[in-house]
Amino acid sequence: MTKHNVLIIGSGGREHALTWAVSKSPHVDKIFCAPGNAGMDLIASLVALDINNQETVHRFIEENKIKLTIIGPEAPLVEGLADFLRSKNHLVVGPNRAAAQLEGSKIFAKNFMAKHGIPTAPFRTFDDPAKAKEFARSTEGARFLVLKADGLAAGKGVIVASTPDEIVDGIEQMMEKKVFGSAGERILLEEKMNGPEISVLALTDGETVLPFPASQDHKRVFDADKGPNTGGMGAYAPTPFYDDAIRKEVEKNVIQNFLAGLKADGLDYRGIIYFGLMATFQGVRVLEFNVRMGDPETQVVLPLVQSDIFEAFLAVAEGRLKEVQFDLKKDAACTIVLASGGYPGDFKKGFPISGLENANKLKNVVVFHAGTKKIDDGIVTSGGRVLAVTGLGKTLEKAVLQAYQGVKKIEFQNAHYRRDIAARALNNPAIYEKIRA
Ligand SMILES: Nc1ncnc2c1ncn2[C@@H]1O[C@H](COP(=O)(O)OP(=O)(O)O)[C@@H](O)[C@H]1O
Ligand SMILES: [Mg+2]
Repeated sequence: MTKHNVLIIGSGGREHALTWAVSKSPHVDKIFCAPGNAGMDLIASLVALDINNQETVHRFIEENKIKLTIIGPEAPLVEGLADFLRSKNHLVVGPNRAAAQLEGSKIFAKNFMAKHGIPTAPFRTFDDPAKAKEFARSTEGARFLVLKADGLAAGKGVIVASTPDEIVDGIEQMMEKKVFGSAGERILLEEKMNGPEISVLALTDGETVLPFPASQDHKRVFDADKGPNTGGMGAYAPTPFYDDAIRKEVEKNVIQNFLAGLKADGLDYRGIIYFGLMATFQGVRVLEFNVRMGDPETQVVLPLVQSDIFEAFLAVAEGRLKEVQFDLKKDAACTIVLASGGYPGDFKKGFPISGLENANKLKNVVVFHAGTKKIDDGIVTSGGRVLAVTGLGKTLEKAVLQAYQGVKKIEFQNAHYRRDIAARALNNPAIYEKIRA
Protein backbone atom coordinates (compact mmCIF):
# COMPACT_ATOMS: atom_id res chain seq x y z
CA MET A 1 0.00 0.00 0.00
CA THR A 2 1.35 3.44 -0.85
CA LYS A 3 1.52 5.67 2.14
CA HIS A 4 1.40 9.43 1.96
CA ASN A 5 2.64 12.39 3.95
CA VAL A 6 0.15 15.04 5.06
CA LEU A 7 0.57 18.67 6.14
CA ILE A 8 -2.03 20.22 8.44
CA ILE A 9 -2.04 24.00 8.81
CA GLY A 10 -3.26 25.41 12.14
CA SER A 11 -2.89 24.99 15.89
CA GLY A 12 -6.32 24.69 17.52
CA GLY A 13 -8.58 21.93 18.79
CA ARG A 14 -9.96 21.65 15.28
CA GLU A 15 -6.52 20.89 13.86
CA HIS A 16 -5.74 18.38 16.62
CA ALA A 17 -9.00 16.58 15.75
CA LEU A 18 -8.05 16.65 12.05
CA THR A 19 -4.61 15.25 12.86
CA TRP A 20 -6.12 12.56 15.09
CA ALA A 21 -8.64 11.51 12.42
CA VAL A 22 -6.15 11.51 9.55
CA SER A 23 -3.61 9.57 11.65
CA LYS A 24 -6.02 6.60 11.78
CA SER A 25 -5.76 6.04 8.04
CA PRO A 26 -3.55 3.13 6.91
CA HIS A 27 -2.72 5.28 3.85
CA VAL A 28 -0.99 7.93 5.91
CA ASP A 29 2.71 7.90 6.67
CA LYS A 30 4.03 11.10 8.28
CA ILE A 31 1.86 13.98 9.43
CA PHE A 32 3.35 17.44 9.82
CA CYS A 33 1.51 20.23 11.65
CA ALA A 34 2.31 23.89 11.21
CA PRO A 35 2.53 25.25 13.82
CA GLY A 36 0.53 22.68 15.86
CA ASN A 37 0.16 22.36 19.63
CA ALA A 38 1.25 20.02 22.45
CA GLY A 39 -1.51 17.50 21.65
CA MET A 40 -0.62 17.33 17.98
CA ASP A 41 3.01 16.90 19.01
CA LEU A 42 2.12 13.46 20.47
CA ILE A 43 0.88 12.08 17.12
CA ALA A 44 2.63 14.20 14.47
CA SER A 45 5.72 16.32 13.80
CA LEU A 46 5.41 20.01 14.58
CA VAL A 47 7.06 22.44 12.19
CA ALA A 48 7.64 26.12 12.88
CA LEU A 49 6.61 27.27 9.39
CA ASP A 50 5.57 30.85 8.73
CA ILE A 51 2.17 29.96 7.32
CA ASN A 52 1.72 33.50 6.01
CA ASN A 53 4.68 32.99 3.74
CA GLN A 54 3.25 30.95 0.86
CA GLU A 55 6.63 30.30 -0.72
CA THR A 56 7.96 28.85 2.57
CA VAL A 57 4.97 26.52 2.83
CA HIS A 58 5.46 25.44 -0.77
CA ARG A 59 9.14 24.68 -0.22
CA PHE A 60 8.33 22.59 2.86
CA ILE A 61 5.77 20.59 0.86
CA GLU A 62 8.31 19.84 -1.87
CA GLU A 63 11.10 18.93 0.53
CA ASN A 64 8.94 16.60 2.59
CA LYS A 65 7.03 14.99 -0.27
CA ILE A 66 3.66 16.05 1.08
CA LYS A 67 0.78 14.47 -0.84
CA LEU A 68 -2.04 16.50 0.72
CA THR A 69 -2.25 19.81 2.59
CA ILE A 70 -5.27 20.47 4.81
CA ILE A 71 -5.77 24.14 5.70
CA GLY A 72 -7.60 24.46 9.04
CA PRO A 73 -8.32 28.18 9.60
CA GLU A 74 -10.01 30.72 7.34
CA ALA A 75 -7.33 33.44 7.24
CA PRO A 76 -4.82 31.61 4.99
CA LEU A 77 -7.68 30.63 2.65
CA VAL A 78 -8.84 34.23 2.35
CA GLU A 79 -5.18 35.15 1.68
CA GLY A 80 -5.06 32.69 -1.23
CA LEU A 81 -2.80 29.94 0.14
CA ALA A 82 -4.88 27.24 -1.60
CA ASP A 83 -4.59 29.03 -4.97
CA PHE A 84 -0.84 29.35 -4.62
CA LEU A 85 -0.27 25.70 -3.72
CA ARG A 86 -2.61 24.55 -6.50
CA SER A 87 -0.72 26.70 -8.98
CA LYS A 88 2.32 24.58 -8.01
CA ASN A 89 0.33 21.37 -8.64
CA HIS A 90 -0.19 20.41 -5.02
CA LEU A 91 -3.31 18.82 -3.60
CA VAL A 92 -5.12 20.98 -1.08
CA VAL A 93 -8.24 20.78 1.09
CA GLY A 94 -9.54 24.35 1.20
CA PRO A 95 -11.22 26.64 -1.31
CA ASN A 96 -9.46 29.17 -3.49
CA ARG A 97 -9.36 32.81 -2.51
CA ALA A 98 -12.35 33.86 -4.62
CA ALA A 99 -14.59 31.20 -3.06
CA ALA A 100 -13.19 31.91 0.42
CA GLN A 101 -14.91 35.30 0.10
CA LEU A 102 -18.04 33.39 1.13
CA GLU A 103 -16.58 33.73 4.62
CA GLY A 104 -14.13 36.59 4.11
CA SER A 105 -16.88 39.02 3.11
CA LYS A 106 -20.35 38.76 4.61
CA ILE A 107 -21.67 41.07 1.87
CA PHE A 108 -20.24 38.77 -0.82
CA ALA A 109 -21.92 35.82 0.92
CA LYS A 110 -25.32 37.53 1.18
CA ASN A 111 -25.20 38.60 -2.46
CA PHE A 112 -24.32 35.01 -3.43
CA MET A 113 -27.30 33.72 -1.42
CA ALA A 114 -29.69 36.28 -2.89
CA LYS A 115 -28.50 35.63 -6.44
CA HIS A 116 -28.79 31.84 -6.20
CA GLY A 117 -32.01 31.50 -4.23
CA ILE A 118 -30.47 30.34 -0.95
CA PRO A 119 -32.88 31.30 1.87
CA THR A 120 -31.45 33.92 4.22
CA ALA A 121 -32.60 36.92 6.27
CA PRO A 122 -33.49 40.04 4.23
CA PHE A 123 -30.61 42.52 4.30
CA ARG A 124 -29.21 45.89 3.22
CA THR A 125 -25.57 46.79 2.67
CA PHE A 126 -23.93 50.15 3.41
CA ASP A 127 -20.58 51.84 2.94
CA ASP A 128 -21.75 55.24 4.17
CA PRO A 129 -22.37 55.52 7.93
CA ALA A 130 -24.86 58.39 7.54
CA LYS A 131 -27.03 56.37 5.16
CA ALA A 132 -26.77 53.31 7.38
CA LYS A 133 -27.89 55.28 10.44
CA GLU A 134 -30.72 56.91 8.53
CA PHE A 135 -32.01 53.49 7.43
CA ALA A 136 -31.63 52.03 10.96
CA ARG A 137 -33.81 54.86 12.32
CA SER A 138 -36.48 54.55 9.60
CA THR A 139 -39.78 52.69 10.05
CA GLU A 140 -38.67 49.96 7.68
CA GLY A 141 -35.25 49.73 9.31
CA ALA A 142 -36.72 48.94 12.74
CA ARG A 143 -36.87 45.24 11.83
CA PHE A 144 -33.20 45.19 10.81
CA LEU A 145 -31.76 44.61 14.25
CA VAL A 146 -28.66 42.68 13.31
CA LEU A 147 -25.50 44.55 12.34
CA LYS A 148 -22.53 42.78 10.78
CA ALA A 149 -19.11 44.03 9.81
CA ASP A 150 -18.35 42.86 6.28
CA GLY A 151 -14.87 41.44 6.86
CA LEU A 152 -13.24 38.95 9.21
CA ALA A 153 -13.56 40.16 12.81
CA ALA A 154 -12.68 36.97 14.74
CA GLY A 155 -16.30 36.28 15.65
CA LYS A 156 -16.77 39.73 17.22
CA GLY A 157 -18.18 41.63 14.25
CA VAL A 158 -21.89 40.88 14.79
CA ILE A 159 -24.32 42.82 16.99
CA VAL A 160 -27.76 41.31 17.62
CA ALA A 161 -29.68 44.28 19.02
CA SER A 162 -33.02 44.92 20.71
CA THR A 163 -33.41 48.55 19.62
CA PRO A 164 -32.40 50.69 16.62
CA ASP A 165 -30.36 52.86 19.04
CA GLU A 166 -28.01 49.95 19.67
CA ILE A 167 -27.62 49.52 15.91
CA VAL A 168 -26.83 53.21 15.43
CA ASP A 169 -24.27 52.93 18.20
CA GLY A 170 -22.74 49.86 16.54
CA ILE A 171 -22.59 51.62 13.17
CA GLU A 172 -20.60 54.43 14.81
CA GLN A 173 -18.21 51.94 16.41
CA MET A 174 -17.64 49.93 13.24
CA MET A 175 -17.81 52.52 10.47
CA GLU A 176 -16.62 55.71 12.16
CA LYS A 177 -14.37 54.60 15.04
CA LYS A 178 -13.28 51.58 12.96
CA VAL A 179 -12.93 49.24 15.95
CA PHE A 180 -12.48 46.33 13.50
CA GLY A 181 -10.26 48.28 11.13
CA SER A 182 -11.09 47.88 7.46
CA ALA A 183 -13.38 44.88 8.23
CA GLY A 184 -16.02 47.39 9.38
CA GLU A 185 -15.80 49.90 6.54
CA ARG A 186 -18.74 48.18 4.89
CA ILE A 187 -21.60 46.73 6.91
CA LEU A 188 -24.75 44.68 6.60
CA LEU A 189 -28.06 45.22 8.33
CA GLU A 190 -30.21 42.10 8.56
CA GLU A 191 -33.67 41.29 9.77
CA LYS A 192 -33.56 39.59 13.11
CA MET A 193 -34.70 35.97 13.10
CA ASN A 194 -35.46 33.44 15.82
CA GLY A 195 -34.98 29.72 16.17
CA PRO A 196 -32.42 27.05 17.00
CA GLU A 197 -29.07 27.28 15.24
CA ILE A 198 -27.66 24.26 13.45
CA SER A 199 -24.21 23.76 11.94
CA VAL A 200 -24.01 21.58 8.86
CA LEU A 201 -20.40 20.96 7.86
CA ALA A 202 -19.73 19.12 4.64
CA LEU A 203 -17.02 17.99 2.28
CA THR A 204 -17.32 19.35 -1.22
CA ASP A 205 -15.39 19.36 -4.47
CA GLY A 206 -17.83 21.72 -6.14
CA GLU A 207 -19.80 18.83 -7.70
CA THR A 208 -20.78 16.72 -4.72
CA VAL A 209 -21.58 17.69 -1.12
CA LEU A 210 -21.16 15.05 1.60
CA PRO A 211 -22.41 16.36 4.96
CA PHE A 212 -21.12 15.39 8.39
CA PRO A 213 -23.75 14.83 11.12
CA ALA A 214 -25.46 18.14 11.95
CA SER A 215 -24.11 19.71 15.12
CA GLN A 216 -24.76 22.54 17.55
CA ASP A 217 -22.20 24.91 19.00
CA HIS A 218 -22.51 26.84 22.31
CA LYS A 219 -21.05 30.30 21.77
CA ARG A 220 -21.58 32.08 25.10
CA VAL A 221 -19.06 31.66 27.87
CA PHE A 222 -21.48 30.82 30.71
CA ASP A 223 -24.31 28.33 31.27
CA ALA A 224 -27.77 29.18 29.90
CA ASP A 225 -26.10 31.20 27.12
CA LYS A 226 -25.05 34.01 29.46
CA GLY A 227 -21.99 36.20 29.10
CA PRO A 228 -20.02 37.28 26.06
CA ASN A 229 -19.49 35.30 22.85
CA THR A 230 -16.48 33.02 22.56
CA GLY A 231 -14.98 30.89 19.82
CA GLY A 232 -17.25 28.13 21.13
CA MET A 233 -17.55 26.41 24.54
CA GLY A 234 -18.85 23.01 23.47
CA ALA A 235 -20.76 21.15 20.80
CA TYR A 236 -22.61 17.93 20.15
CA ALA A 237 -23.82 15.90 17.20
CA PRO A 238 -26.10 14.75 15.77
CA THR A 239 -28.60 17.38 16.83
CA PRO A 240 -32.29 16.41 17.05
CA PHE A 241 -33.15 19.92 15.78
CA TYR A 242 -32.02 18.71 12.35
CA ASP A 243 -34.96 16.44 11.64
CA ASP A 244 -35.82 14.78 8.33
CA ALA A 245 -38.03 17.63 7.15
CA ILE A 246 -35.29 20.20 7.78
CA ARG A 247 -32.69 17.95 6.18
CA LYS A 248 -34.75 17.67 3.01
CA GLU A 249 -35.31 21.42 2.95
CA VAL A 250 -31.57 22.05 3.34
CA GLU A 251 -30.65 19.56 0.62
CA LYS A 252 -33.07 21.18 -1.81
CA ASN A 253 -32.86 24.89 -1.01
CA VAL A 254 -29.38 25.27 0.40
CA ILE A 255 -27.08 22.55 -0.91
CA GLN A 256 -28.40 22.28 -4.47
CA ASN A 257 -28.50 26.05 -4.91
CA PHE A 258 -25.04 26.37 -3.37
CA LEU A 259 -23.58 23.94 -5.92
CA ALA A 260 -25.42 25.61 -8.79
CA GLY A 261 -24.19 29.00 -7.56
CA LEU A 262 -20.55 27.86 -7.50
CA LYS A 263 -20.89 26.67 -11.09
CA ALA A 264 -22.68 29.78 -12.31
CA ASP A 265 -20.11 32.06 -10.70
CA GLY A 266 -17.12 29.93 -11.74
CA LEU A 267 -15.91 29.38 -8.17
CA ASP A 268 -13.39 26.59 -7.57
CA TYR A 269 -14.41 24.99 -4.28
CA ARG A 270 -12.52 21.96 -3.01
CA GLY A 271 -12.66 21.89 0.74
CA ILE A 272 -15.06 22.15 3.63
CA ILE A 273 -18.25 24.15 3.48
CA TYR A 274 -19.97 25.03 6.74
CA PHE A 275 -23.60 26.09 6.52
CA GLY A 276 -24.57 28.08 9.63
CA LEU A 277 -28.35 27.63 9.73
CA MET A 278 -31.29 28.89 11.76
CA ALA A 279 -34.51 26.86 11.81
CA THR A 280 -37.12 29.64 11.83
CA PHE A 281 -40.92 29.40 11.65
CA GLN A 282 -40.66 30.56 8.05
CA GLY A 283 -38.26 27.75 7.21
CA VAL A 284 -34.52 27.19 7.30
CA ARG A 285 -32.39 30.28 6.71
CA VAL A 286 -28.64 30.47 6.19
CA LEU A 287 -26.98 32.74 8.76
CA GLU A 288 -23.54 32.46 7.27
CA PHE A 289 -21.05 30.30 5.42
CA ASN A 290 -17.70 29.31 6.78
CA VAL A 291 -15.12 27.96 4.37
CA ARG A 292 -13.47 25.62 6.87
CA MET A 293 -14.46 23.36 9.71
CA GLY A 294 -15.83 24.86 12.91
CA ASP A 295 -14.07 24.68 16.23
CA PRO A 296 -15.37 22.88 18.38
CA GLU A 297 -17.79 21.22 15.88
CA THR A 298 -14.86 19.36 14.30
CA GLN A 299 -14.19 17.67 17.64
CA VAL A 300 -17.64 16.03 17.49
CA VAL A 301 -18.15 15.39 13.78
CA LEU A 302 -14.83 13.74 12.93
CA PRO A 303 -15.15 11.03 15.61
CA LEU A 304 -18.52 10.12 14.03
CA VAL A 305 -17.02 9.31 10.64
CA GLN A 306 -16.71 5.58 9.94
CA SER A 307 -14.94 5.85 6.56
CA ASP A 308 -11.28 6.66 6.01
CA ILE A 309 -11.26 10.46 6.30
CA PHE A 310 -7.88 10.79 4.61
CA GLU A 311 -9.27 9.09 1.49
CA ALA A 312 -12.28 11.41 1.57
CA PHE A 313 -10.05 14.50 1.91
CA LEU A 314 -7.84 13.28 -0.93
CA ALA A 315 -10.92 12.85 -3.12
CA VAL A 316 -12.02 16.40 -2.23
CA ALA A 317 -8.66 17.75 -3.34
CA GLU A 318 -8.67 15.67 -6.53
CA GLY A 319 -12.24 16.61 -7.42
CA ARG A 320 -13.61 13.05 -7.38
CA LEU A 321 -15.78 13.12 -4.28
CA LYS A 322 -18.65 11.36 -6.03
CA GLU A 323 -16.56 8.16 -6.02
CA VAL A 324 -16.26 8.22 -2.24
CA GLN A 325 -18.13 5.96 0.13
CA PHE A 326 -18.71 8.22 3.15
CA ASP A 327 -20.18 6.25 6.06
CA LEU A 328 -21.11 7.80 9.36
CA LYS A 329 -21.41 6.05 12.71
CA LYS A 330 -24.82 5.82 14.33
CA ASP A 331 -23.35 7.12 17.59
CA ALA A 332 -23.44 10.54 19.24
CA ALA A 333 -20.61 12.82 20.34
CA CYS A 334 -20.30 15.72 22.74
CA THR A 335 -17.31 17.96 23.38
CA ILE A 336 -16.68 20.24 26.36
CA VAL A 337 -14.22 23.10 26.05
CA LEU A 338 -11.99 23.75 29.06
CA ALA A 339 -11.05 27.40 28.96
CA SER A 340 -8.72 29.65 30.93
CA GLY A 341 -10.68 31.55 33.60
CA GLY A 342 -11.34 35.07 32.32
CA TYR A 343 -11.58 34.06 28.65
CA PRO A 344 -12.79 35.63 26.32
CA GLY A 345 -11.43 38.62 28.28
CA ASP A 346 -8.00 38.71 29.92
CA PHE A 347 -6.62 35.50 31.36
CA LYS A 348 -3.33 34.11 32.67
CA LYS A 349 -1.34 31.39 30.90
CA GLY A 350 1.35 28.92 31.88
CA PHE A 351 -0.60 26.85 34.43
CA PRO A 352 0.38 23.15 34.56
CA ILE A 353 -2.33 20.76 33.34
CA SER A 354 -2.79 17.44 35.14
CA GLY A 355 -4.91 14.38 34.45
CA LEU A 356 -4.65 14.41 30.64
CA GLU A 357 -3.59 10.78 30.42
CA ASN A 358 -6.21 9.62 32.88
CA ALA A 359 -8.91 11.33 30.86
CA ASN A 360 -7.62 9.88 27.58
CA LYS A 361 -7.51 6.41 29.10
CA LEU A 362 -11.27 6.44 29.69
CA LYS A 363 -13.23 4.44 27.17
CA ASN A 364 -14.98 6.63 24.58
CA VAL A 365 -13.15 9.78 25.63
CA VAL A 366 -10.69 11.71 23.44
CA VAL A 367 -8.91 14.83 24.65
CA PHE A 368 -8.14 17.39 21.96
CA HIS A 369 -5.66 20.16 22.71
CA ALA A 370 -6.09 23.79 21.71
CA GLY A 371 -4.11 26.35 23.76
CA THR A 372 -1.50 24.03 25.25
CA LYS A 373 2.27 24.08 25.27
CA LYS A 374 4.90 21.51 26.15
CA ILE A 375 7.55 22.61 28.60
CA ASP A 376 10.34 20.55 30.19
CA ASP A 377 8.28 18.85 32.85
CA GLY A 378 4.82 18.73 31.37
CA ILE A 379 2.07 20.54 29.52
CA VAL A 380 0.86 24.03 30.43
CA THR A 381 -2.00 26.29 29.35
CA SER A 382 -1.14 28.73 26.57
CA GLY A 383 -4.43 30.11 25.25
CA GLY A 384 -8.04 31.02 25.98
CA ARG A 385 -9.53 27.74 24.93
CA VAL A 386 -7.19 25.10 26.34
CA LEU A 387 -8.74 21.69 25.66
CA ALA A 388 -11.83 20.10 24.16
CA VAL A 389 -12.85 16.83 25.78
CA THR A 390 -14.98 14.67 23.51
CA GLY A 391 -17.21 11.86 24.76
CA LEU A 392 -18.78 9.27 22.50
CA GLY A 393 -21.75 6.99 23.10
CA LYS A 394 -24.59 5.08 21.54
CA THR A 395 -26.94 7.88 22.63
CA LEU A 396 -26.43 11.60 23.13
CA GLU A 397 -27.01 11.18 26.86
CA LYS A 398 -24.19 8.63 27.08
CA ALA A 399 -21.90 10.86 25.03
CA VAL A 400 -22.57 13.85 27.30
CA LEU A 401 -21.94 11.88 30.48
CA GLN A 402 -18.77 10.41 29.03
CA ALA A 403 -17.44 13.84 28.02
CA TYR A 404 -17.99 15.18 31.55
CA GLN A 405 -16.32 12.07 33.02
CA GLY A 406 -13.28 13.04 30.99
CA VAL A 407 -13.47 16.68 32.08
CA LYS A 408 -13.51 15.68 35.76
CA LYS A 409 -10.13 13.97 35.42
CA ILE A 410 -8.41 17.14 34.22
CA GLU A 411 -7.25 20.03 36.34
CA PHE A 412 -5.49 23.34 35.90
CA GLN A 413 -5.68 26.59 37.82
CA ASN A 414 -8.66 28.83 36.93
CA ALA A 415 -10.16 26.23 34.57
CA HIS A 416 -13.65 27.12 33.38
CA TYR A 417 -16.16 25.05 31.43
CA ARG A 418 -19.89 25.04 30.81
CA ARG A 419 -22.00 22.48 32.59
CA ASP A 420 -24.95 22.54 30.22
CA ILE A 421 -23.60 21.44 26.84
CA ALA A 422 -26.38 19.72 24.83
CA ALA A 423 -28.92 20.44 27.61
CA ARG A 424 -31.53 21.84 25.19
CA ALA A 425 -31.34 18.71 23.08
CA LEU A 426 -31.54 16.28 26.00
CA ASN A 427 -34.16 18.25 27.92
CA ASN A 428 -33.39 16.24 31.04
CA PRO A 429 -32.24 18.52 33.91
CA ALA A 430 -31.45 15.56 36.19
CA ILE A 431 -28.42 14.69 34.06
CA TYR A 432 -26.96 18.14 34.56
CA GLU A 433 -27.60 18.08 38.31
CA LYS A 434 -25.31 15.05 38.37
CA ILE A 435 -22.72 16.87 36.26
CA ARG A 436 -22.76 19.93 38.55
CA ALA A 437 -22.50 17.83 41.72
N1 LIG B 1 -30.30 37.62 11.11
C1 LIG B 1 -30.06 37.17 12.36
N2 LIG B 1 -31.05 37.04 13.26
C2 LIG B 1 -30.82 36.60 14.51
N3 LIG B 1 -29.61 36.27 14.97
C3 LIG B 1 -28.56 36.37 14.12
C4 LIG B 1 -28.73 36.81 12.77
N4 LIG B 1 -27.52 36.81 12.18
C5 LIG B 1 -26.65 36.39 13.10
N5 LIG B 1 -27.24 36.12 14.28
C6 LIG B 1 -26.60 35.64 15.52
O1 LIG B 1 -25.28 36.12 15.56
C7 LIG B 1 -24.34 35.03 15.56
C8 LIG B 1 -23.11 35.44 14.74
O2 LIG B 1 -23.47 35.72 13.40
P1 LIG B 1 -22.71 35.05 12.18
O3 LIG B 1 -23.35 35.52 10.94
O4 LIG B 1 -22.67 33.58 12.40
O5 LIG B 1 -21.28 35.72 12.25
P2 LIG B 1 -19.88 35.27 12.92
O6 LIG B 1 -19.93 33.80 13.20
O7 LIG B 1 -18.89 35.63 11.88
O8 LIG B 1 -19.74 36.11 14.13
C9 LIG B 1 -25.12 33.86 14.99
O9 LIG B 1 -24.58 32.64 15.44
C10 LIG B 1 -26.50 34.13 15.53
O10 LIG B 1 -26.60 33.72 16.88
MG1 LIG C 1 -21.14 32.20 13.09
